[in-house]
Amino acid sequence: MQPRVKPHREAHFPSGEPRPALGLGTWRLGEAPASRAAEVGALRQALEMGWRVIDTAEMYGQGGAETVTGQAVAEALRAGLPRSELFIVSKVLPQHASARGVQAACEASLRRLQLEQIDLYLLHWRGAVPLQDTVRGFEELQRRGLIRLWGVSNFDLDDMRELGAVPGGRACATNQVYYSLSQRGVEFDLLPWQRVHQMPLMAYSPFDQGELVDHPRLRPVAERHRATPAQVALAWLLHQPGVMVIPKAGNALHLRHNWAAQQLQLSPQDLAELAQHFPPPAARQPLAVR
Ligand SMILES: NC(=O)c1ccc[n+]([C@@H]2O[C@H](COP(=O)([O-])OP(=O)(O)OC[C@H]3O[C@@H](n4cnc5c(N)ncnc54)[C@H](OP(=O)(O)O)[C@@H]3O)[C@@H](O)[C@H]2O)c1
Repeated sequence: MQPRVKPHREAHFPSGEPRPALGLGTWRLGEAPASRAAEVGALRQALEMGWRVIDTAEMYGQGGAETVTGQAVAEALRAGLPRSELFIVSKVLPQHASARGVQAACEASLRRLQLEQIDLYLLHWRGAVPLQDTVRGFEELQRRGLIRLWGVSNFDLDDMRELGAVPGGRACATNQVYYSLSQRGVEFDLLPWQRVHQMPLMAYSPFDQGELVDHPRLRPVAERHRATPAQVALAWLLHQPGVMVIPKAGNALHLRHNWAAQQLQLSPQDLAELAQHFPPPAARQPLAVR
């Protein structure tokens, strides 16, 4: 099971560990039992194409997305894919993120994923549980060998600073946030801060949940490269240092297009044109959330 196109960009976690900058989202998977076989099939195809990073969460399909991911991964492992090549990301809901609650939530995720360890486990968004409790829970999960790295999601810069001040908080490996050509607010403060701390930013909803996949403003650049607007949107994010990107795609054509976007090299002219239509933030903005 060899990748047809080698991932051309990697992101480095604070530990120095490199991982492909391009991963696969799974939101909306596992919601309907009738679609399950097709969804498992699409994930299997993704793994055969070379995708190695999969982003899921206990919330998606109320565990259904983890179940679908687990089935596809189990089949791929049985077919010979080395577990060490995979990087499985999942997330705990804030209401389960107490030091004790996170143990049970993670165990349930592992059962659905049919895995012994989650590579990166994120707090899905900030809730009422004090951050230090959640960090203690994550540390215990690491001691138990159930997770390797932990991180957060939907944290703005103030949240990140607060997290850095709690015991153990500096071990945070990533912050997953909404970032796309049309949602560039993080570039003002959060992304530069994460770069200084060598903490990759995981960009979710890179197509604005489909809004960008045929955006007229992307077409001229796409035509110059004989690419699709979706590929331009993805290539632009992959061009940003310290950023990982996790597009969701539900069929083989989209998976192939998104994988091939890694080979699209945007020129200075392309970048200038895109910046004109999708300007960078001129001031601090509240964090965009989905
Ligand atoms: N941490 C958080 O709070 C959070 C929030 C939102 C999302 N996420 C994560 O980020 C992932 C991605 O975000 P998202 O699912 O919101 O949306 P997205 O990736 O921005 O967009 C997905 C949409 O784009 C379509 N698409 C994908 N590739 C395409 C292509 N090459 N050409 C045309 N259309 C294409 C998909 O259609 P098909 O399905 O038909 O291929 C789907 O409708 C999620 O799945 C999830 O894992 C995390």
